[in-house]
Amino acid sequence: MEKFQVKFMPDQQVIEVEQGTSLLKAASQAGIFIKSSCGGKGTCGACKVTVISGEAKSERTGNLSPEQLSRGVRLSCHTFVEGDLTVEVPPESRLQAHQVLLEDANAALLTETSKDLLTYYGYHPLARKVNIRCSEPTLTDNAGDWTRLSIELKRVLQSDKPLTIPLSVLQTLPETLRQAHWDLSVILTDLESGYTVLHVEPANDRPCYGLAIDVGTTTVVVYLVDLDSGEIVDKQGSYNKQAQFGDDVISRIVYAVDSTENMAEIQKAVVDTVNVLIEGILERQSLTSQNIASAVIAGNTTMSQLFLGINPRYIRLEPYIPTVNSTPAVSAREIGLRLLPEALIHTYPSVASYVGGDIVSGALATDMANSDEIILFIDIGTNGEIVLGNKDWLVSCACSAGPCFEGGGILFGMRAMPGAIERVDIDPESLDVKLKVVGKIAPVGICGSGLVDCLAKLRKAGIIDRAGNFQLEHPSQSARIRATEDDKEFVLAWAHQAGGDKDIVISENDVKNLIRAKGAIYAGIRSLLQTVALEIDMIERIVIGGGFGNYLNVHDSVEIGLLPDLPQEKFEFIGNSSVKGARLALLSQKAWNEAADLARKMTYIELSIGTTFMDEFVSALFLPHTDLSLFPSVE
Ligand code: FES
Repeated sequence: MEKFQVKFMPDQQVIEVEQGTSLLKAASQAGIFIKSSCGGKGTCGACKVTVISGEAKSERTGNLSPEQLSRGVRLSCHTFVEGDLTVEVPPESRLQAHQVLLEDANAALLTETSKDLLTYYGYHPLARKVNIRCSEPTLTDNAGDWTRLSIELKRVLQSDKPLTIPLSVLQTLPETLRQAHWDLSVILTDLESGYTVLHVEPANDRPCYGLAIDVGTTTVVVYLVDLDSGEIVDKQGSYNKQAQFGDDVISRIVYAVDSTENMAEIQKAVVDTVNVLIEGILERQSLTSQNIASAVIAGNTTMSQLFLGINPRYIRLEPYIPTVNSTPAVSAREIGLRLLPEALIHTYPSVASYVGGDIVSGALATDMANSDEIILFIDIGTNGEIVLGNKDWLVSCACSAGPCFEGGGILFGMRAMPGAIERVDIDPESLDVKLKVVGKIAPVGICGSGLVDCLAKLRKAGIIDRAGNFQLEHPSQSARIRATEDDKEFVLAWAHQAGGDKDIVISENDVKNLIRAKGAIYAGIRSLLQTVALEIDMIERIVIGGGFGNYLNVHDSVEIGLLPDLPQEKFEFIGNSSVKGARLALLSQKAWNEAADLARKMTYIELSIGTTFMDEFVSALFLPHTDLSLFPSVE
């Protein structure tokens, strides 16, 4: 098939692709990631690009206006290369580089009640490095190389656990031993079931590292952890490259199960994401993949299965069954991760199709399974997962909140990063707006915490009613409230303030999406409480995890009916609980074993059974709720 060059602007990135390749795919191959909320179905309109010159064929134009079409604006998912092209990708269509939450990265693994979990579980990393000296063979001492090495290792390890060595390490062992003059550093797994030699090299005192990895639907975060000290040496995060196949797990599953090629492509996308992050860290730290001996991955069930290349088809089909809840460790070589080839990758066990390893990991980090108090743990990410309970019982559920709070499906939605509006103040009379922007620069979009804040302020100022309908006849007669061709919107920042050619707005459609998202989470909380016959005020602590949760304003969240109306002091933020739990497991074998128990102990409540959730959801589609007695503090 004929090949053509596509030049992406303003990056000046040129890529050669086959005729008929979609611009969305070509951009991804060029390392430019375009928003694709609907997974390329041509329905969301998020993937707009402008064809500046050259030949392209568009199969679908969505709701692009005649004016946009005349300017060359196209849906990149449904526009195909037919000749050499120059294409501009506007900022609002791009998945921006993601910044990891850094503020608590090196904090001790403490719960909010100040219990040091690492001390509690005991320090015992899943892999380690030992330095040994083997005796050289002679004519009278002619034991084989592996025998000599294993005898010395057992002596140093002082353990009678089984000790094994894979063929790939054996194949290079004779030369390594002799080149090292029998003075060796040996990296090995250290599991309850035994030791496995991962790598043998000349003796050195370089530390041995592991990775704690949170594979989220939207973002991926990698921590490099020194296995000797437990310290986080470096960390990096980025968008999950799978985002090009859709914003949510359902779009990803639909894409993956379409063909074997798609399955391989979507698995490669996430493995590539992790590898790029690892490479960045290794380069910064002047390390190589040979220094990394282990990894613990926490992700939702779909992400875990896709990462491992396991077909996720039945996760989305009733009765919603995952292929596996507890996966055996696999080698980095099998998955294609850039660690020591024989290093083991441990994947957190899941509870059900929609309560995955990331939640088990987060629950471990909250220590709720050892608590006397009744704790509500909420992880607000692309989905909203909720766990309720204490040391005696745990129930969990998942509610499809959608990606709004991570910026998905919102016109100017973005993650919390420089340029994101994180706080909004609206004068109820003049409707003048004051914004707080991450990085104190011109606003580019609005992040989850800004959206929560904005929703609360829009209602307070009477710009929207309790159902989220815009009030065009607002007494202020402000030009900020306006009707467009197919929606209504409120201007948060004028184009000149935003330093671009567009006003930053929140539309009625955005507001309705946000109300549905917050309604789903609150309905999930109420449904879980009803399952165990508890009232909201019986919750003793509410722990909020997830990147978005870390910036959440509790007062505003209660005002819009996202979180229960409880005293402020009951709320705690744990940040990225998923990667915290992954680090804990990486550094403590006992904690890792506990994770498996925790997953088994958690009862999963399927919200689609019965009418409880739906009734609660419908009641929650108001600001803050149809039943105002649930929100006594909200005026
Ligand atoms: Fe192209 Fe949704 S319209 S990805």
